[in-house]
Amino acid sequence: MPRILVTGGAGYIGSHTAHLLRRRGYETTIVDDLSRGHAHNVEGFPFHRLNLRDTAALTAILREGSFDAVIHFAAFIAVGESAQAPELYFLNNTGGSFSLLEAMATAGINRLVFSSTAAVYGTPESTPIPEDARIAPVSPYGESKVMVERALEWMDRYRGLRSVVLRYFNACGADPESPLGEEHDPETHLIPLLLRAVLTSEPVTIFGEDYPTDDGTCIRDYIHVRDLAEAHILAVDHLLRGGASKVYNAGVGQGYSVKEVIRAVEGVTGRSVPFRVGPRREGDPPALVASSTRLQTELGWKPKYTSLAAIVETAWRFASRQAR
Ligand SMILES: NC(=O)c1ccc[n+]([C@@H]2O[C@H](COP(=O)([O-])OP(=O)(O)OC[C@H]3O[C@@H](n4cnc5c(N)ncnc54)[C@H](O)[C@@H]3O)[C@@H](O)[C@H]2O)c1
Repeated sequence: MPRILVTGGAGYIGSHTAHLLRRRGYETTIVDDLSRGHAHNVEGFPFHRLNLRDTAALTAILREGSFDAVIHFAAFIAVGESAQAPELYFLNNTGGSFSLLEAMATAGINRLVFSSTAAVYGTPESTPIPEDARIAPVSPYGESKVMVERALEWMDRYRGLRSVVLRYFNACGADPESPLGEEHDPETHLIPLLLRAVLTSEPVTIFGEDYPTDDGTCIRDYIHVRDLAEAHILAVDHLLRGGASKVYNAGVGQGYSVKEVIRAVEGVTGRSVPFRVGPRREGDPPALVASSTRLQTELGWKPKYTSLAAIVETAWRFASRQAR
């Protein structure tokens, strides 16, 4: 079976993908510095605790493991934090990725799946957003990913590195077949924050209700983490078959407003969500919805979690288990 190195596999999406790869029989090794991830997510995996910027150590791991491909999740992910400390995001996300590219080139590994983000589009001119929409990030976080995407184009041309870039929309939910779930610290994502508010009765703040949307709150495209993990497996299989470099949106193509998500949480938990409305957050576009036809038609991806209730159900199971 193929040998896959997963960077950032102690984190939320990386751990879900690593577990699914292993269940499907791929030999899966994880690299993570545990700066934002959790040791319990890598239990039972070959694991190297390492910062990606340690190019020499990374090269040695890549050489010894004779990997067929790398799936690269490791990054910092908070838009707000990136505005407070842009240098941290360029150093860790862009610098970490460049170090990985150097290590892969030295070790002769030339297949990479890269975690990018809808944040590369900034405030889009229209939705749903196709992959060839204007790239215009409005945060250092988004820019830190754009720089890597551009480097990958050059690495393809001059180094023969084939990559699949997946631009995720809002990853959410928890794996129904494992104890994994979303555990960011601090948590900035809507569904776990709403569930925490339900469990603690502490009101959660939602950012703005004066957007030009039906109910005034922001609309986002929620993609279940299990469906996202499946997209990574399809992407890596494409590269292992000798496929060309590609860029795909990873979203369902359906948008839900913050208030619709609140109602879904109330429906699943049977409790009301205590919340207050705060001011808008800088750089939050009114609507971010993917055009996801390219991923579906070219790689045969088909999301299974297409209703908010089904998504929230899995996140609620995880959150209530954690609270026990
Ligand atoms: N969560 C989302 O909704 C979302 C949306 C769009 C894109 N993404 C991208 O998906 C990827 C994974 O996101 P996540 O939600 O699982 O985040 P996460 O914070 O849960 O996981 C990231 C992991 O990377 C590790 N890491 C960070 N920098 C590292 C470095 N320099 N060296 C080694 N390890 C390092 C952290 O310790 C952590 O375990 C990120 O690249 C993120 O930008 C996430």
